[in-house]
Amino acid sequence: MKPPPLSRRLLAWWGENRRELPWRTASGAEPDPYRVWLSEILLQQTTGAAAAPYFLRFIARWPDVAALAAASLDEVIETFAGLGYYARARNLHAGAQEIARRGGRFPDTEEELRALPGVGAYTAGAIAAIAFGRQAAAVDGNVARIIARLKALETPIVAARSEIAAIAQALVPADRPGDFAEALMDLGAMICRPRAPLCGQCPLSPDCAAARAGEAEAYPRRRPKKARPVRHGAAYFAFRRDGAFLARRRPPKGLLGATLELPGPPWRTAEVGGGDHAPPFVADWRRIAGEVEQVFTHFTLRLTIHVAAIDAAPSDLAELFWVGAEEAPRAGFSSVMLKAIAHAGELGGAKPTQ
Ligand code: ADE
Repeated sequence: MKPPPLSRRLLAWWGENRRELPWRTASGAEPDPYRVWLSEILLQQTTGAAAAPYFLRFIARWPDVAALAAASLDEVIETFAGLGYYARARNLHAGAQEIARRGGRFPDTEEELRALPGVGAYTAGAIAAIAFGRQAAAVDGNVARIIARLKALETPIVAARSEIAAIAQALVPADRPGDFAEALMDLGAMICRPRAPLCGQCPLSPDCAAARAGEAEAYPRRRPKKARPVRHGAAYFAFRRDGAFLARRRPPKGLLGATLELPGPPWRTAEVGGGDHAPPFVADWRRIAGEVEQVFTHFTLRLTIHVAAIDAAPSDLAELFWVGAEEAPRAGFSSVMLKAIAHAGELGGAKPTQ
């Protein structure tokens, strides 16, 4: 006998395992579009557990869309406080007013729902299916992961969006599309998790190409990471007999804004002359062995370290000031500069001499 189609197996699993969430009606009960819309907006970028108390607060304060439309924006923002992504509070307020202008009736197609503020493809699909029984798909990152595993897609999700949307749409049953959408959401949260998916408990594993190959966790395929470029720089550690050394403050905006640093040339990639540099002032500079490396989000920095013993600061460089050896750890240097200072101290002999 052929196994039952995928949607039937998923719905049977859901009947036993569905999460109890406050916006969900009992199976078969008539959904309230206001509650569905409100929950789907609150669930954008937010887990069910985090959204649940906010949903209850909204419903207690504004039990229907007319009540929400009559609220002030400040009251809506106040009720939202702590959930983040506050554009959603404005979207809820503006959306409620739009629905009130339409006599309190929600649009019931994906296309018309998308015209409401803050309603994108996913939210429109979810509301159309859950509130109005439309045969619509709701594809977010969780559902995309399920599809990528089901079909063992070799293309990473970002590049396969339209293919995934088409596959998801073809899976939606004519009967109970709203339950199907919520069942997929629960499967993504509980079974087809990003890491350590529970394929042994999954109702879709007979259909799943990745699970059959024993490789569910290897999907979705990740985008190859771009290699981080390397920037080169030099840090000049000019120290006095008492161990104090010269430093300056970086500009307030930009990378490591307003932190202290050792003087040196701007950091550059090798192609534009990174590594070629002149000292910030004349002294008996000595390059010490090795380099100091720091990985930033967009590049890796490699600094050569140069040391010189001096008696007085150069009079023409007003941005430089002395920092005592003892103060250095708390003076406001970035980690990379603290590494450079430690390197100069260890290998450059830049230690106080009594
Ligand atoms: N995430 C987005 N919509 C959801 C829903 N209706 N139930 C659970 N999680 C969700």
